[in-house]
Amino acid sequence: MAAWQRVIDLFRFKLRKDDRQLAESYLEEAGLFLFNQMSYADQKHAVNVGRYLLSDKIDTTGADLKLLIKAALLHDVGKVKGEIAWWNRIIVGVIRRFFPKLRQKRAKRGEAGLGHALYVDLSHPDRGAYMAQSLGIDPTVVSLIKHHHDPLNEQASLELALLQIADAKS
Ligand SMILES: [Fe+2]
Ligand SMILES: [Fe+2]
Repeated sequence: MAAWQRVIDLFRFKLRKDDRQLAESYLEEAGLFLFNQMSYADQKHAVNVGRYLLSDKIDTTGADLKLLIKAALLHDVGKVKGEIAWWNRIIVGVIRRFFPKLRQKRAKRGEAGLGHALYVDLSHPDRGAYMAQSLGIDPTVVSLIKHHHDPLNEQASLELALLQIADAKS
């Protein structure tokens, strides 16, 4: 998805009906609770990742598609709504892409503004996995959330590899 589209998504509020239906058809109550606490932009991104995996742009043969779509919908739940101001989201995106060292250096829990935004961005896989585990989400989905930004190695599951590709494309 074009970067500008993600920026536009920062200013919308509610998911389209068909997007909402996709989330509701794959998530149970606990999953929906986690999904709902994300901002619109993160919900929309999560749905886009799910749709990409359901499309013919990617070969998911051999993967557990149900679990994979659940993980797609929940992979970024560690980004809690309202925690990061929209301008910091844009700055964080730029820093993540172009200044990764600065990201490590400036990320600070509890610090106001950009430091905290970078901290959330850096820690959201662990946080999200913890939140999902606490609510009894399937352990495979929890693991996919936890490792969705890890560099892939030979032990990585097919689902993790597919999730990372779809995440990067959405
Ligand atoms: Fe993420
Ligand atoms: Fe993502």
